[in-house]
Amino acid sequence: MKAASINDYRELARRRLPPFLFEYIDGGSYAEVTLRQNVADLEAVPLRQRVLRDVSDIDTSTTLFGQRLSMPVILAPIGLAGMNARRGESQAALAAENAGLPFCLSTLSVCPLAEVAGATKQPLWLQLYMIKDRGFMVALLAEAERLQCSTLVFTVDMPVPGSRYRDYRSGLAGASGVSGALRRFSQALAKPGWAWDVAINGRPHVLGNVAPVLGKSSGLEDFFAWMRNNFDARVSWADIEWLRAHWKGPLILKGILDPQDAIQAVCAGVDGIIVSNHGGRQLDGVLSSARALPLIADAVADQLTILADGGIRSGLDVVRMLSLGANAVLIGRAWVYALAAAGGAGVTHILNLMSAEMKVAMALTGVTRIDAINRDGIDSSRSTLLPQSATRIRTTQ
Ligand code: GLV
Repeated sequence: MKAASINDYRELARRRLPPFLFEYIDGGSYAEVTLRQNVADLEAVPLRQRVLRDVSDIDTSTTLFGQRLSMPVILAPIGLAGMNARRGESQAALAAENAGLPFCLSTLSVCPLAEVAGATKQPLWLQLYMIKDRGFMVALLAEAERLQCSTLVFTVDMPVPGSRYRDYRSGLAGASGVSGALRRFSQALAKPGWAWDVAINGRPHVLGNVAPVLGKSSGLEDFFAWMRNNFDARVSWADIEWLRAHWKGPLILKGILDPQDAIQAVCAGVDGIIVSNHGGRQLDGVLSSARALPLIADAVADQLTILADGGIRSGLDVVRMLSLGANAVLIGRAWVYALAAAGGAGVTHILNLMSAEMKVAMALTGVTRIDAINRDGIDSSRSTLLPQSATRIRTTQ
């Protein structure tokens, strides 16, 4: 199959990966209502077709925290991404750099920060969780500064991990020791392309940034146990001040879904927020990103940079998110499906596809510059997202 879309890459990834990895990327928490709603709500945003506006010269570039981006898209932090292709985070970061886009490395990556920074020239973004061991955090932040990372993304919607049934069924979670290893090994045997590329030639399979503190036992089987034991559920707004003392660059909070929290983020003095429900992987049943975004934009749009993720499966979806109020978006599953299916070349392909799709969407909605995309582009008579948003935000404040 030749992939023409992100959904095609999803299918190719499903065929190539052992189930314990595909289900981890693809799945959400509990009944996956929010996961589905992220896609469905965004897909349903009705844009207005506008005509005769000279769309011969379309520019998708934008500036974010002083950095020029070829389009308003960032590669989101994804745990274990490096298990999907040989030294996967380094391949994807290089593809992002070649496309003129930032790459955000997860704390829970396979390749350590230094390895990815060594594979690329542009400054990386780093994602951080609040870990109980503040010494670990200080060391990682110092490493980020040493390697000239430009931007810190602090994830705030995961003080504890959500329950993801698929990971239990597939053998990624809850199957430690020999029995878990055997289950994963038998899945790997059935996927020889992946086994050769990653299982044999993609070692070491450790959480690269965490390995220095976990030592020898930083293998895959420790992934969920490590999250449960080391994420700091006491994390609070007061910790933003602590972070500020250890990080001088732009600081973004990832996982804001409520306007009151967005207002608090402004008060905390952060530079940006990411409207996100963690790809439907945390609290199931919460608002989709597309529904939450206009409410939050109404509350804080002129006070900080608003990014959003969740459900983006095309360049058309990027235009929809910008119309709802985002300055830029993060894509997660999209790049990991492509990485799993075709390595760095796959990531390059979907970024090219998204850029081309964005240009067509901009042409047909009659805009030629990113800063001209706004709510005027949405057909409010058919939208179920906008009118209620305006009313609700005014009544809750
Ligand atoms: C980690 O961020 C995850 O969602 O598994």
